[in-house]
Amino acid sequence: MPYLFEFSYHNPTQIVFGSNSFAKLGGLVPADAKVLLLYGGGSIKKNGVYEKVTAALAGREIVEFAGVEPNPTLETLTAAVHLAKTQKTDFVLGVGGGSVSDGAKYVACAALYDGDGWDIVSGKHFPKVALPVGIVLTLPATGSESNVGAVVTRKATLEKRVFYVPPARPRFAILNPEVMTSLPDRQLENGLVDAFVHVCEQYLTYPVGALVQDGYAEAVMKALKTLADSFDQRRETAWQQNLMWAANQALCGIIGVGMPTDWITHRIAVELTALWNIDHGRTLSIIQPWLLRELIEAKRAKLEQMGRNVFGLANPSAEDTIAAIETFYRSLRMPVHLREAGITETDAADRVWQAVLAHGNAALGTHAEVDEAKTERIVRAACG
Ligand code: NZQ
Ligand code: ZN
Repeated sequence: MPYLFEFSYHNPTQIVFGSNSFAKLGGLVPADAKVLLLYGGGSIKKNGVYEKVTAALAGREIVEFAGVEPNPTLETLTAAVHLAKTQKTDFVLGVGGGSVSDGAKYVACAALYDGDGWDIVSGKHFPKVALPVGIVLTLPATGSESNVGAVVTRKATLEKRVFYVPPARPRFAILNPEVMTSLPDRQLENGLVDAFVHVCEQYLTYPVGALVQDGYAEAVMKALKTLADSFDQRRETAWQQNLMWAANQALCGIIGVGMPTDWITHRIAVELTALWNIDHGRTLSIIQPWLLRELIEAKRAKLEQMGRNVFGLANPSAEDTIAAIETFYRSLRMPVHLREAGITETDAADRVWQAVLAHGNAALGTHAEVDEAKTERIVRAACG
């Protein structure tokens, strides 16, 4: 039976891109707003972004919350929610990477909810309202700045959960590639791989004749591969602009419209961060090659297409494409097995597998008919 596209697409986040974009911030945040300015561990104080943002917001009342950590925790964000409630802020401006962006979305929802904040993260409560959110992006990777997803970890129970909050989709996102100048190489590597895997999750299933979606996915993946191959140019404006736009497009929603998608790499990989706080991008490079080997038959046609159109291989087998993906990750010094991330506990695979089971991610079905046995083999190959 032919596959039919069926979708409704609306992404109202205004993207303001370029080196002059901070100047536009003043026009995007209402003049009478009382702003909760949310940021991370202090990189914005060292690279000048904080000064530029606060200057652009001159005249507005600003309440600051610093210290949103990478892989933001419910525990930290609860303090930000308390501040938003007691100070009666009416706008949340996140200045940072995916963690701050996700934190801003959560706080915007939880500030208008009287129940337990974990209800929002666990899906027990679907927020219908949220404070308006704006993002000044400082790290291109997740696409969080213009999508409706967020990821929050409850430290107390080592649970890292993805949830969707349409009312907290950012009203605008400022994408100024100049902020990337202060990014350590490690974060650029993470960002490249995270964005690449976001495209894979929406592309690497089976052919459905979606010429536009496939073509665009391949263009974004080729761009990311080109950026990896020219990593020595990472301090140049053109390189930075391209990564910032590619990472946004990889997960703003457009590539996956009407497509069969997968997301199993992400569903397994979150456990590595929950257990050992491994960077998100690195958890993906650890899991994905093993997942592709396990699910190779279901993904064979798309892997061959990807080998031709992304990696430029002549008559590639699916195996050739998986090898090319792994080489691509290694060229960025990313781990492709848990032990390469420094985790050598003998029960590591058991712990990951138990967590995947406990969080209901062991038998996700999907086009590859992923059942418990397949997921367990993926986990044991990547982590054993
Ligand atoms: O906290 P600060 O001091 O700002 O330092 C950060 C942090 O240590 C630093 N950094 C950010 N911008 C910088 C900078 N350092 C110097 N110069 C700059 N311009 O980078 C470190 C990592 O930041 P983080 O925000 O944690 O990284 P990333 O953007 O990779 O976000 C990861 C989080 O996003 C979630 C992940 O699970 C993880 O929790 N994701 C969110 C998604 C979404 N909402 O759609 C999808 C993704 O798949 C992902 O799951
Ligand atoms: Zn991701």
